[in-house]
Amino acid sequence: MKIEETFNVPETPETVWRFITDPVEVGPCVPGLSDIEVVGPDKYKAKVKVTVGPIKAAFNFEVEVTKETPPSEVLSVTRGEEGSKASKVTAHNILRLSPSSDGTEVYYSSEVSITGRLGKFGFGVMKKKAKSLGEEFAKNFRQRIETSNVNATDSEAIPAPTIQTGETKTMGKANWQDMREFMDALEERGELVRISEEVDPAWEINGLTRIGLQDRGPALLFENIKGADFPMVANLLGTDERYLFSLGIDKWSDYNEEWIRRTEEFIPPRMVDSGPCQEEVIEGDDIDLHKICNTVWHQFDAGEFPGTLGISITRGRNDGVLNAGIYRMHTLSNNTLGWGAPEYTHGRQHYMEYEHADEEMPMAVVTGYDPVVFIMGATRTPPGIDEFHIGGALRGEAIDMVASGADGIPVPATSEFVFEGVIKPHHREIEGGFGEYTGYYGEARSNPAFEVRRITHRKKPIFLGAREQWEPSDSTLVNGKSSQAEAFKTVKSLVPGVLDMRCNVCFEAIVKIDKLFPGHPQQVMDAVWGGTYSRYKHVIIVDKDVDIWDYTDVHWALSTNVRADRDVTISPRRAGQWLDPAVSLREKGWQTQMGIDATLCTEEYEFWGEKSPRLVDDPEIVAKTLDKWGDKLSWRKS
Ligand SMILES: Cc1cc2nc3c(=O)[nH]c(=O)nc-3n(C[C@H](O)[C@H](O)[C@H](O)COP(=O)(O)O)c2cc1C
Repeated sequence: MKIEETFNVPETPETVWRFITDPVEVGPCVPGLSDIEVVGPDKYKAKVKVTVGPIKAAFNFEVEVTKETPPSEVLSVTRGEEGSKASKVTAHNILRLSPSSDGTEVYYSSEVSITGRLGKFGFGVMKKKAKSLGEEFAKNFRQRIETSNVNATDSEAIPAPTIQTGETKTMGKANWQDMREFMDALEERGELVRISEEVDPAWEINGLTRIGLQDRGPALLFENIKGADFPMVANLLGTDERYLFSLGIDKWSDYNEEWIRRTEEFIPPRMVDSGPCQEEVIEGDDIDLHKICNTVWHQFDAGEFPGTLGISITRGRNDGVLNAGIYRMHTLSNNTLGWGAPEYTHGRQHYMEYEHADEEMPMAVVTGYDPVVFIMGATRTPPGIDEFHIGGALRGEAIDMVASGADGIPVPATSEFVFEGVIKPHHREIEGGFGEYTGYYGEARSNPAFEVRRITHRKKPIFLGAREQWEPSDSTLVNGKSSQAEAFKTVKSLVPGVLDMRCNVCFEAIVKIDKLFPGHPQQVMDAVWGGTYSRYKHVIIVDKDVDIWDYTDVHWALSTNVRADRDVTISPRRAGQWLDPAVSLREKGWQTQMGIDATLCTEEYEFWGEKSPRLVDDPEIVAKTLDKWGDKLSWRKS
């Protein structure tokens, strides 16, 4: 639902700007808003009471300013919960000023989405009300600015920003130049903490990153690691907020569609002659991987695993197409890394091509890149796709790449480190075990080994690593959400009525559909299994009124709508994850798929001439009760 209004006020844009950037002044112009509280820079809390048909509802809101372009535009997001917690509202707001012949033209819009019980009931009523809400906002605005302090303010006292040269303060974007720019932005937001005290890589980084991830804490920059020559940053994209911020996307419910929009057209990389990643060189006997990253990420790991966020870049021997993938790497000697890429990965399939031809495979491994390259490296795609083209599309700008010393394989020019070398054919070494994203230790395997022949890096480089573990973690989030978006794109293109999709790293996919015909949910399951690349074990299909971003809502559908003999589909002996802990070593690589149709069986009710059951939510009674009792209910949060 969109509330939209354009109106004129007889003041200069600078005066109106001061008014709209003061929450105490502008807030009460929103119909029903009260109790404004400033809770941080660009963050406010407020209450709103609205009447939706016969219902009176009270919401607690948090407002965050996401972008300010003085003195012409303020963008903000409002997120709120209805007092009974039965409904959620999100609104994306724009206030835009432009000079007019008699003052300033103000454009106000608020794109409101309501989920939950009130959404089901109240949406139609609110839609009808949208026009009058916009008009009321304009009326309040004109009245308040007339009596407001900003009018009396000496324009010298608060410097008025100039119209053309105003700075843009963005709360998130996608075209980061490098990891350092992203780290600076995190530090400014209080989301990066420097640890300058010496830490022991045998256990302290493990402990600190574990606690940091569990607490959904900041990124951690270890400036002084015993025995290592370089600092290391970890937990970089360890929270949902940082992941979304790195792409300049506000919320998960926008994410899949935004990914599709951006990747409609791929943007190929731009080759440049030189890049900061080649400022310094380490070669020959000076190569000692233990001095670059000597972290033992988990207590029972088989040793040091520097490559938790090393992107292996290879070139197909047969088609010349680049591939990028993150595969675990175990330090086996000063210059050798065990390479944990299972047979179903595209990197390993490139290696098979070289091995069949009895040739060494050249490979470049990079780490310390801008966050979109991080995401791109973990994205599961169809075969034969150069992920750097997707990365460019996600950033909205080509990635600058420079030829590496590994047979000229291009690497992102602003990477902190590049490891150049080869993987020899028909050679295997034992690498692992290692603590994995499954939350379990993964077994040791006999795998190919990467021989590092040269390392290049930036001046004063910063290593990038990750403690892999189950959620919350960057290893599950980045791998899971990038692959989710690609899977959604595919499933949506194969089957109609697919509205949204939520996946964890690779085990579960929840798909929201607008059910169109009997068998529709099962067709979606088949599309997920046959058309995507993450080998999701469990696929759950829900109706369009279920909020898939709230697990309680999904569990409600699972608990109530499912009749097991009819709604559960089992497909044994399908290709699975090497690391699936439900499968013993003997059967590794296989999995059994389960699909659950958790949509309401409306078609059966209809066939028998019956009505589907009615939802219990009683929003009118809840609102009426809150109106009378709200202040007296001591257990409720304000
Ligand atoms: C921190 C992190 C660690 C990962 N480690 C591995 C790994 O050890 N082995 C693996 O097969 N995939 C791993 N992945 C997932 C792959 O990088 C991802 O599936 C990627 O799409 C593989 O590239 P490919 O599809 O081109 O083969 C990891 C992902 C992340 C974010």
